[in-house]
Amino acid sequence: MARGHILALLVLCLLCTMHSSKIEGKIDIGVNYGMQGNNLPPPREVIEMFERYNIGKIRLFEPVHEVLEALRGKKIEVFLGTRNEDIPVLASSPENAQAWFNTNVQPYLKDMNIPFITVGNEVIPGRFSESILPAIQNIQNILKANGLRDMRATTVVYPVVLGASHPPSAGVFSKASIGYMTDICKYLESENAPLVVNVYPYLAYAEDPRHVRLDYAQFTATEPVVRDGNLSYNNLFDATLDAFVWAMEKVGVNDVALIVGESGWPSAGMGNFTTPNLAATYNKNFMKHILSYRGTPKRPGDYIEGFIFAMFNENLKPAGREQHFGLFYPDKTPVYNVF
Ligand SMILES: *[C@@H]1O[C@H](CO)[C@@H](O)[C@H](O)[C@H]1NC(C)=O
Ligand SMILES: *[C@@H]1O[C@H](CO)[C@@H](O)[C@H](O)[C@H]1NC(C)=O
Repeated sequence: MARGHILALLVLCLLCTMHSSKIEGKIDIGVNYGMQGNNLPPPREVIEMFERYNIGKIRLFEPVHEVLEALRGKKIEVFLGTRNEDIPVLASSPENAQAWFNTNVQPYLKDMNIPFITVGNEVIPGRFSESILPAIQNIQNILKANGLRDMRATTVVYPVVLGASHPPSAGVFSKASIGYMTDICKYLESENAPLVVNVYPYLAYAEDPRHVRLDYAQFTATEPVVRDGNLSYNNLFDATLDAFVWAMEKVGVNDVALIVGESGWPSAGMGNFTTPNLAATYNKNFMKHILSYRGTPKRPGDYIEGFIFAMFNENLKPAGREQHFGLFYPDKTPVYNVF
């Protein structure tokens, strides 16, 4: 018994050390650097903010060279996305993928840690869906050919690809997505690559506040809210991730890790559902949850990387709440404090 405890402690400590040293001296959380604003600070100043606030990771929706130049030599992990419009070209031939890689990745590799190249964002089930897998394969083959063994190509999906997600064990890919998702997840599994998912409990709550409890959406429920077989859930975030896990299992994929590419809560734009207080509560609890390294009920102890959406309020996004997901105003002052 005592020995078991000591062993468990040792394993825990080992995990702690591993995680805290993953990005030395930084918070093991990422933030999305969305750029759909005409009043945002220049990239060099934005990257300085990432450094000042000790943010360990950044996700870019496309390879903007001014941003990549500003990231050179910084100890910030870069999740690098491709533009959705570029997916068909990346899929069309290894040579075209190579050209994209040579322009947008190769020049930065020697002074940047780019663990993942994400092909597209929330594309499935849209018009580029069938190009995703060949594009991932073309890029993954380039990574392998260049001996870049710590880099992976993957894609970013959102819960629209699920046909059911409640309770989590009912999780299944939708009719429109299951073909694409099955092939992609099988390939990711064969390459030991993760799937990136965007998870917004806010959206579920805002859509159906009579049935989705605020405390369940905000990680503040202290008791299980949903019981599902022998698993119980006190937050919607875990339940959504596990719905993905179940959906993958049902198509024979058991071993693809999940990364959370986006999560967040708007601070304005939809009345009393979107206040700085609610946004701060969600994002603080999201960080706490990610940094607890507890995994989900179905995958306890799994390492789940997480990114907050987004760095700034973006005034060129559709009017309303879409413009208010930022942690910071364009003048660099915090909308609320999380770091
Ligand atoms: C929970 O139930 C599943 C089957 O539904 C079973 O495989 C698993 O071992 C159970 N876990 C625990 C901790 O009882
Ligand atoms: C928003 O206001 C309505 C009406 O007063 C109230 O029922 C609801 O609980 C409020 N929601 C939040 C999140 O404060």
